[in-house]
Amino acid sequence: MAITDPKRYTVTAALIYANGPIHIGHLAGCYVPADIYVRYLRSQGRDVAFISGTDEHGVPITIRAKKEGMTPQEVVDKYYAQIDASFKELGISFDVYSRTSKPIHHETSREIFKNLYDKGVFEEETTEQYYDETAQQFLADRYIVGTCPVCANPNAYGDQCEKCGSALSPTELIEPHSMLSGSKPVMRPTTNWFLPLDKLQPQVEAFVNSHPEWKTNVLGQCQSWLKEGLKPRAMTRDLDWGIPVPVPNTEGKVLYVWFEAPIGYISATKDWLIQKNGTDEGWGQWWKEKDTKLVHFIGKDNIVFHCIIFPATLIAEGSMILPDNVPANEFMNLEGDKISTSRNWAVWLHEYLEELPGKQDVLRYVLTASAPETKDSEFTWKDFQTRNNSELVGIFGNFINRAVVLTHKFCEGKVPAPGELTDIDAGTLAELAAFPSRIADSLENYRFREALTHIIDLARLGNKYLADTQPWHVIKTDPERVNTILNISLQISASLAIVAEPILPFTAEKLRLQFGMQDHTWTDAGRVDLLATGSLIGEANLLFEKIEDHVIERQIQKLHDARRMNELEGKTVAEIKPEIQYEDFAKMDIRIATITEAENVPKSKKLLKLSVNIGSEQRTVLSGISEHFKPEEVIGRKVLYLANLAPRKMMGMESHGMILMAEDKDGSLAFVQPGKEIWDGGTVN
Ligand code: MF3
Ligand code: ZN
Repeated sequence: MAITDPKRYTVTAALIYANGPIHIGHLAGCYVPADIYVRYLRSQGRDVAFISGTDEHGVPITIRAKKEGMTPQEVVDKYYAQIDASFKELGISFDVYSRTSKPIHHETSREIFKNLYDKGVFEEETTEQYYDETAQQFLADRYIVGTCPVCANPNAYGDQCEKCGSALSPTELIEPHSMLSGSKPVMRPTTNWFLPLDKLQPQVEAFVNSHPEWKTNVLGQCQSWLKEGLKPRAMTRDLDWGIPVPVPNTEGKVLYVWFEAPIGYISATKDWLIQKNGTDEGWGQWWKEKDTKLVHFIGKDNIVFHCIIFPATLIAEGSMILPDNVPANEFMNLEGDKISTSRNWAVWLHEYLEELPGKQDVLRYVLTASAPETKDSEFTWKDFQTRNNSELVGIFGNFINRAVVLTHKFCEGKVPAPGELTDIDAGTLAELAAFPSRIADSLENYRFREALTHIIDLARLGNKYLADTQPWHVIKTDPERVNTILNISLQISASLAIVAEPILPFTAEKLRLQFGMQDHTWTDAGRVDLLATGSLIGEANLLFEKIEDHVIERQIQKLHDARRMNELEGKTVAEIKPEIQYEDFAKMDIRIATITEAENVPKSKKLLKLSVNIGSEQRTVLSGISEHFKPEEVIGRKVLYLANLAPRKMMGMESHGMILMAEDKDGSLAFVQPGKEIWDGGTVN
């Protein structure tokens, strides 16, 4: 059951693998909503620890290291620094951004493992696993490649086929081989320690069932795992990168990354306290007190680990609280395609920050507006531009800007005293007063998109009020009335600064400075006297600026270029064909010829009709090159020509012989020309 009156909040955001940079999918799925939630709680004066960091163990790290030709340590050092810096720049306000490679984490997770081990929680079991005799190590699922038994993809992994999406186990692969050495792995017995999830199922089930308020996508995944029946899961692995198992005679074994990484939330809390107070004393209040509300922000691929496996560990451990909620999001797609690191189809945070400087709030806003809260969603640059131009510039910025500019024009830049209120004033103020609790309700319940629409509606209310009251006309006849109108407009603006802060912290900060707001908190929002009469308002400064087409077009182009580069990188030189004898080659009659005429073949996408001079005669050739060359580009070219290929009928015409072309890496074609002017008909041997 949800805790109704928590004393404090432990809010975590997934410990991302330090094996690559952050992209918008990570942000929309986890980090931006987590930060909005935490900023809101702080504004409410609640006691919060906002915990995150990097996950630095596991196979994903070692695979990356191999790919980049670095050691795992170098990989995690590189990406920790990059990830940490880019989160900071986006205003993600972690209290601590820790790392699972820190000694405090090694100690904490070994201690918890040892505790469970001593209590006899684990089941020790010996199973047969694939072993690479050349590399002399057991192979993690990801290190075994073979043919998919479902779709025959020859590059399926031991845990999954990425072509058909089937979940696999290594023994199902046809002709498995090791990614480390290429050799055929053998089966070898190995002993590991299993968490008996089957035995813990009743407690896990009771826990999940006590949370009917969880999001449907989250409950759906939990129910399907529980229905399948939980199975014991190995909490140790045969791997050389990770935290050594705190049990004698376990060389070559480390703690399973999904056992220790979530414990990283606890270690990071300790790390935070140590950095702050010099000691981790008091960490228990964030993890053991029943009136602490624990909330995990994650993406959907992490649901089972946070809702079932980690809680099962905590249940077995016995002294800790369980999550009150796990508001996991679905995935965000990008320009009509799945975001993919390996295919380089992503908008990277560090690049965004560099290429669109000062636009942190725009990204936070757009990712919130299209967050995959209930189903997969989509980011497009066009939508980014539209949301910026019509909502942030056109509604939010426009309203506040007008209120400020008019105050400088008519009231010497000071908050004017309100006079008697008319019906429209009273009505507008009543509406204003209702907004903060409406927005709070959305935020408390993890409906961040909804909160955002309320905020824009509040700015709309301001715009409507100005349009209805028309201070720019009224000033000529009734300056007193204008004072009231602008006072109310400024109060609305100040409230916007408070309620928009969780989503738009950089903008809110500008507004606080501009309005001279001090320690205003959430409870001040909606008040009619937020800004005192007579206080100074700073000059209008641009909150948001219009984003032009060329900015967006550049980003779209960049995406496509990056994917193309990536595809080329993966290309390899074609394999040599089976051996032939000289006689086979000598059968071919290859000559130098000149193209003298060329025209498109009607109704054909590919074919050009060419006339070539081969010295002795003129030949007609239909050549499949019209996607690469225009007719006028080929006339006059010397070419290599295969003269004795049997004629073929195409598009109702007869083609004689064939022009030989060279194909480049990217699929483009080029004529192959002799190194000196050769007469037409000259032979090539
Ligand atoms: N490293 C995992 C990922 O990037 C997330 C781990 S979250 C934690 O998907 F709970 F394990 F910390
Ligand atoms: Zn497959």
